[in-house]
Amino acid sequence: MRILITGVAGFIGSHLAERFIKEGHKVLGVDNFITGNFRNIKKLVKSPNFKFKKLDISKKTIDFDADIVMHFASPASPVDYYRYPLETLKAGSYGTFNTLNIARKNDARYILASTSEVYGDPEVHPQKESYWGNVNPIGPRAVYDEAKRFAEATTAAYHREFGLDTRIIRIFNTYGPRMKPDDGRVIPNFITQALKGEKITVYGDGTQTRSFCYIDDLVEGIYRLSIKDNLDGEVVNLGNPEEYRIIDLAKLIIDLVGKDLEITYKKLPKDDPKRRRPDITKAKKLIGWEPKTPLKIGLKKTIKYFKKILGEKT
Ligand SMILES: NC(=O)c1ccc[n+]([C@@H]2O[C@H](COP(=O)([O-])OP(=O)(O)OC[C@H]3O[C@@H](n4cnc5c(N)ncnc54)[C@H](O)[C@@H]3O)[C@@H](O)[C@H]2O)c1
Repeated sequence: MRILITGVAGFIGSHLAERFIKEGHKVLGVDNFITGNFRNIKKLVKSPNFKFKKLDISKKTIDFDADIVMHFASPASPVDYYRYPLETLKAGSYGTFNTLNIARKNDARYILASTSEVYGDPEVHPQKESYWGNVNPIGPRAVYDEAKRFAEATTAAYHREFGLDTRIIRIFNTYGPRMKPDDGRVIPNFITQALKGEKITVYGDGTQTRSFCYIDDLVEGIYRLSIKDNLDGEVVNLGNPEEYRIIDLAKLIIDLVGKDLEITYKKLPKDDPKRRRPDITKAKKLIGWEPKTPLKIGLKKTIKYFKKILGEKT
């Protein structure tokens, strides 16, 4: 099959492209490098089945006879979307329209990378796909949350209006190699601080919980949701339902890095969700998927990657 992936030079997009290539498909990847890095696709560009085009998908479209269109382009970490608020809104709006129109023109399947952020600071635990969310539309996180909610609404409308085969994937916190050390999310933060021998910064008292999905598990889920027939119009959570307290994550990373480090506490940012955990019953039922990688194993692989790239910088 011929796959178009936007945001291919990013963390998830690059792993996804590798998976499709490995399965014998042809991939056209586009990216404008706003938050991505060419390093992530350095190996991919050597493959005859991979083509790359530098493009801002919010501004321009592209001619490609695709079987599947996958819209993954968007700043994704809080640091990135605070830095690029308007670009984030545009990736969710113009970018979504542009990619949906490519899918429509080619009668292709459409996969939207949505997020658990559409649930906002949830009042229901764990979050099922039927939950509508609790989002502040004008808060600092709204540029991302509302962009994704808009993207979902647009995708659902194309499904209803044009019968397009769409699938919305609500991705929960994912981690692994190719995340940026300065991306601001908790795992890269803790690992970078630990490797540099700095104090580990915990926001709030550390009792807030998060669930973390290792990238290989996520990619497996996205791949299955993309290639399986008869999932038109579905909305599916992908994430790891195992909950960890942030303070326990900090201690585990300190332990794995093997240094004697102090933990410092800072004020919790505005609108930071206290708890978030996916209900993955639907993914289990539709594609027989659940995460397999234990946190400790995933963290070890991520630490190894971070050691390498932090070493490259110095
Ligand atoms: N990583 C996670 O835990 C997570 C969780 C939920 C949802 N997601 C979603 O998955 C997708 C990928 O996230 P990621 O973590 O890989 O982030 P990332 O920042 O590593 O990758 C995003 C990529 O999109 C590119 N991009 C952004 N705007 C673009 C535009 N207008 N035109 C072309 N390219 C553009 C960036 O340069 C980058 O390479 C995003 O849509 C994000 O919202 C990620």
